[in-house]
Amino acid sequence: MSTILRRLPPTEATGLRTGARHSLAEVYRPADLIILGLGVMIGAGIFSIAGQQAATTAGPGVILSFMIAGIACLLACLCYAELSSTMPTSGSAYTFTYVIFGEVWAWIIGWALILELQFAAAVVARAWGAIAVGAIENFGVEVAQKELVQDALVFVILVLLTGVVALGARVGLRALWIMVSAKLLAIGAVIVVGLPHIDVANFGEFYVPPKVMDTAPATVLEVFVGQGQAFGWFGIFAAASAIAFAYIGFDIVATSAEETANAPRAVPKGMIRSLIIATVIYIAVALVMIGMVSYTRISVEAPLASAFRAVGVGWMVHVIDAGAVLGLSTVILVLIVGQTRVLFSMARDGLIPRGLASVSRRYHTPTRVTLVIGLVAIVLAEFVPVLTMQELVVIGTLFAFAFVAAGVIVMRRRMPHLERGFRVPFSPLLPALSLVATLWLMVNLRVLTWAWFTLWMAFGLGVYLVYGRRNSILARPHAPERQPAAGGRHRR
Ligand code: ALA
Repeated sequence: MSTILRRLPPTEATGLRTGARHSLAEVYRPADLIILGLGVMIGAGIFSIAGQQAATTAGPGVILSFMIAGIACLLACLCYAELSSTMPTSGSAYTFTYVIFGEVWAWIIGWALILELQFAAAVVARAWGAIAVGAIENFGVEVAQKELVQDALVFVILVLLTGVVALGARVGLRALWIMVSAKLLAIGAVIVVGLPHIDVANFGEFYVPPKVMDTAPATVLEVFVGQGQAFGWFGIFAAASAIAFAYIGFDIVATSAEETANAPRAVPKGMIRSLIIATVIYIAVALVMIGMVSYTRISVEAPLASAFRAVGVGWMVHVIDAGAVLGLSTVILVLIVGQTRVLFSMARDGLIPRGLASVSRRYHTPTRVTLVIGLVAIVLAEFVPVLTMQELVVIGTLFAFAFVAAGVIVMRRRMPHLERGFRVPFSPLLPALSLVATLWLMVNLRVLTWAWFTLWMAFGLGVYLVYGRRNSILARPHAPERQPAAGGRHRR
């Protein structure tokens, strides 16, 4: 087999049963995984992007966009569930791909996951900064030098959350339970208080006739059709792709598999349940927002707040602010956790420097890689206009979804006897549908996003050819190693 297509033996990934490499403490119980999933999913997607997409791209059809993205993500989630029930490792899609398709593809997925997790942490931190300043202003306090204050707040939150992650999963978990509960209360208030103010006339027919734009076609699909459009079905699908950002996170639950008790059964359950709960919440919030006020009056900067102001319930602004500040904090927290686990796995396999796979004896977490990730997130959030990169995060995520869907089909044929804690029903039909749905969302992303994504991946491939290919544990004579980088199995 060509070197770059060498595959990780499944026994290295199928968990403790097979003596696979394991060096992280086992801390998560099934309920924790739901909190982890809701912690990372409910954030900028529902607090900001939903309203932005309604106002500019889909109108009231944004509700359909949420359903379309939700169905596509549910299909992807079932595929993740099967693979993580077979290979409960912290590398998630990266490790699945390593076992199923080979090293270079695994690297490519790992590189795409960096786009998802590392960049999303920076994007959400930036959005958090804007919301935090807005929250202060909503109390009537004038913030002088807004940009500077935002920069400072973004720095503080990233330092704090990186510290929490570095101190160990237990500390992060406690903070997570409290913050996620508070954010769910705030979301509950949005739904309950907003409900009586719904005017069905605002839903129209969930469809706004298309507007042809003077600008060049923006999405890949529009290029094929030859014109740019807003609203209409193009708008609804384009919004579904942007809204996929809101669903990012159920896949991150899979990165906690190595730290979960009875992972082959607990991880699929946690992942699927958290996705279903998040989908219901999203559709409920979107219905309330769109129902309260015509989409033409939703503000792009503060969508939910503008809807409540329009119906004369101004005090809800503070509840929304509190929910969003807490909500986005947990998103950043879990994104950092997910990124540490993926990079840790890549380092353990030697594709990035192995020193990054070291596990702190004191905190039982990959502290070193956590600090690197925190630092990179700070640099990105402070010096790069990350808010324009939301779609780049989405394309990285969808790319991994596509490999996971294909992976289920290939693995069923090639390794039918591996023990699976969960099986996608109606395989290969559902995984094939997942692949099609994912590709559909991808062609509804902008051409510019594809261009940046291609550049990013080409750069990544170069890094692999220069470093990973030579330093992979599979390149060593007695590969793969069976010893964890530090410590052994810890149960706390
Ligand atoms: N799903 C996360 C959010 O919406 C990334 O903020």
